[in-house]
Amino acid sequence: MKNWNFVILIVLCFLSLYPSLFHIPSFSISDDCPDPFSCDRIKQTSIPVNFMQWLYSKLLPTYSDLLVPDKDSSKKDPEEDFFDFDALGPDFSRLPDWPTSFPPDLVQYRIRTLNSTFASNQLKWKAEVAPWVVHHRGVAENLYLHRPDPREKAAIVVLVRNSELRQLQHSIRMMEDRFNRVYNYPYIFLNDKPFSNKFIQTIAKSTSSSTTFSLIPYDHWSIPDSVNFFKAKVEHRKLSSQNVPYGGSMSYRHMCRFNSGFFYKHPLLQDLDFYWRLEPDIDFYCDLDFDPFKFMRENNKVYSFVIFLTELEKTIPSLWESTLQYAYDKNISSNSLKLFADKYDNYNLCHFWSNFEIASLKWFRSDEYESYFQHLDKSGNFFYERWGDAPIHSLAAGLLLDIDQIHFFNEIGYRHDGFARWPVYKNNSAAASKCMVPSDRFRNFDIDGTVCSSLWEEYKPYPWDIKDTENALNKLYLQKLQKPSDQNYMFVDQKWRDAIYRN
Ligand SMILES: *[C@@H]1O[C@H](CO)[C@@H](O)[C@H](O)[C@H]1NC(C)=O
Ligand SMILES: *[C@@H]1O[C@H](CO)[C@@H](O)[C@H](O)[C@H]1NC(C)=O
Ligand SMILES: *[C@@H]1O[C@H](CO)[C@@H](O)[C@H](O)[C@H]1NC(C)=O
Repeated sequence: MKNWNFVILIVLCFLSLYPSLFHIPSFSISDDCPDPFSCDRIKQTSIPVNFMQWLYSKLLPTYSDLLVPDKDSSKKDPEEDFFDFDALGPDFSRLPDWPTSFPPDLVQYRIRTLNSTFASNQLKWKAEVAPWVVHHRGVAENLYLHRPDPREKAAIVVLVRNSELRQLQHSIRMMEDRFNRVYNYPYIFLNDKPFSNKFIQTIAKSTSSSTTFSLIPYDHWSIPDSVNFFKAKVEHRKLSSQNVPYGGSMSYRHMCRFNSGFFYKHPLLQDLDFYWRLEPDIDFYCDLDFDPFKFMRENNKVYSFVIFLTELEKTIPSLWESTLQYAYDKNISSNSLKLFADKYDNYNLCHFWSNFEIASLKWFRSDEYESYFQHLDKSGNFFYERWGDAPIHSLAAGLLLDIDQIHFFNEIGYRHDGFARWPVYKNNSAAASKCMVPSDRFRNFDIDGTVCSSLWEEYKPYPWDIKDTENALNKLYLQKLQKPSDQNYMFVDQKWRDAIYRN
């Protein structure tokens, strides 16, 4: 890879010196082509553009880059990226029934595993990540040695980087103090790079529950062959030029796709029925004196949320159409899909904010959910657009769940980023009395947020069926025809794409 960087650098210098020679509009490609002359020039650039496509393919991550530390963590603390199982000490172990011995060169081991054939994907993923799976048995497990274990088959699941250690400590403190020091659910931590010894040792000490740390399989965090990396990069540039948050970020897209279609396939989650998603840097404001996992199971709930808000339209321009197309192909009837449609049957952009989520893993593992995800993934729009996992979980719930299977946990006061909500006093004051909201938090998103929370409160189940899907699709196509400016934009866009793909 190092050699390639050097070659690429030379080539880039060369290209920037002689753009006119190749008719290349330089690297800061703009798609809107105000000047017809330059548009024509773009149309003539098939050879150099193909060359650039090749160039980009050389920038794609290769197997041997897999375990290179995060860029953002490499500078500060050398300890931050150091992983060595044997140096962790006697408190840490492998998991029962997992492989225990590995060759010294783990990068080679991983490349070999990735290139081997296994009886099932689960076996492959397990073998692949096994050297990086570290378990710490929490002392709380002793409580259940001589009496029945009242806990559900559930875990708190966290996707996190080594560099987010402090923010994660904060979240775990919150989780333990408000809930888990009594209920002792295990934690599972997942990372696309190996967790460091420092991270593992620090986090294991911050709870008396069991903790397990693991790498994510390569298949779950990589660009599928069907996605054109070059095209994706062009689209990223468009979005970041419109100041869309994470518009230019590839790792953000990996995260969204992982949370949409892969987290529930991780080998560590296969025996679980429910999970609670936890993020670094959140607050819980209220004491939770019941077990939400048990509540979910006993009340036949499948998906739950606390914040319901609108998505940025620019990140998901084609998601609603893809979803309707799926509903049409599968002849789906649902009484909860209407929750996401406005009065013109467009997507109202409301979505359950999935950074908090308690949900059924059986549902995510179901054929129905998987087939919806596969339908979306085929479009490549996790990479070309910037589809978030939150609208995808929400629309999947809208398509596949009865409205009674979706639950709003009013008792859970929650903050992530600038958004916070908690139960208010006027109703249900028992729930409100268990909360302590810092005085600088004056904006309760349930009251003073988007229109979505009131849509949820007022929602009347509507028997959406294939006729509604058909109507909504027809309206969508009609709208496209009626928007000449968009049409022009699409035309230019198409011209530009054609130019890129012409051989
Ligand atoms: C994978 O295995 C095949 C043959 O078994 C070999 O030709 C190829 O080079 C291997 N690829 C890698 C990345 O090791
Ligand atoms: C769609 O499903 C409904 C039952 O849910 C059925 O009555 C209808 O005939 C189906 N329509 C098509 C086009 O398959
Ligand atoms: C709120 O309180 C009013 C009056 O006490 C009651 O009629 C209403 O059902 C309550 N709403 C909720 C959501 O509990």
